[in-house]
Amino acid sequence: MKKTLIVYHSRSGHTRRVARALAQRLDADIEEIRIVQPLDGWLGYMMCAIESLAELTPALRPMRRRPADYDLVVVGTPVWFWNVSSPVRSWLETHALKRRVAFFCTMGGSGAGRAFASMAELAGREPVATLALIDRDVEPKVGERMGAFLGALHAHRRPAARHAPRHAPAHAAA
Ligand SMILES: Cc1cc2nc3c(=O)[nH]c(=O)nc-3n(C[C@H](O)[C@H](O)[C@H](O)COP(=O)(O)O)c2cc1C
Repeated sequence: MKKTLIVYHSRSGHTRRVARALAQRLDADIEEIRIVQPLDGWLGYMMCAIESLAELTPALRPMRRRPADYDLVVVGTPVWFWNVSSPVRSWLETHALKRRVAFFCTMGGSGAGRAFASMAELAGREPVATLALIDRDVEPKVGERMGAFLGALHAHRRPAARHAPRHAPAHAAA
C-alpha cells in the first residue's frame, strides 16, 4: 500500500495536471473528487459562483480511497472566487483527517492564501506544506516549482521518529 494519497478536484484540467505530476513524483495513490451534478459551460460557471460565494457543499460521487489508510494526504483545489472550490469544501467537510495534510492549488492569479486558510479550517489541521501555481506556470514550471514542496512532503512521509526534528512548513507560492 502506498503511503501518500492525493485527492483533487479539477474543472478544466490544471489541478489534474499538477495532481498527476505530484503522484508520479511521490509514487502516490491519486483520486479525483467528482461532483454528482457536473458544472460545465456557462450555467455551470454560475453554479460554481453561487456555491463558492455561499460556501455550499455539493454532493460528491463515491470515492474508492480512504484517507485513514495513508500517512499523508495531499489535497488539491482550483481557486474559486478567492477561496477553496466547493467540491473540495465538500470533501474536506465529510472526511475527518487524522493524518498529515498538504495542500496545493491552481489559480488565474490570486486567492491561494484564503483557499489554504479555509482548507486548514475545514481539515482541522495545518498543512505541512503548500504549493500555489498560477495557470500559465502549470505547464512549463510545474516540475521546477514542485521542488521545495516535494522535499517537504518526502520529509514528512518518513515514520514519525520519537526524536525526529520538527519541520517548519514549506510554502511555495506562484
Ligand atoms: C468559478 C471559478 C472561479 C474562479 N475564481 C478565481 C479566483 O478567485 N482567483 C483566481 O486566481 N482564479 C480563479 N479562477 C480560475 C481558476 O482558479 C484557475 O483557472 C484554475 O487553474 C482552474 O483549475 P482547473 O483547471 O483544475 O479547474 C476561477 C475559475 C472558476 C471556474
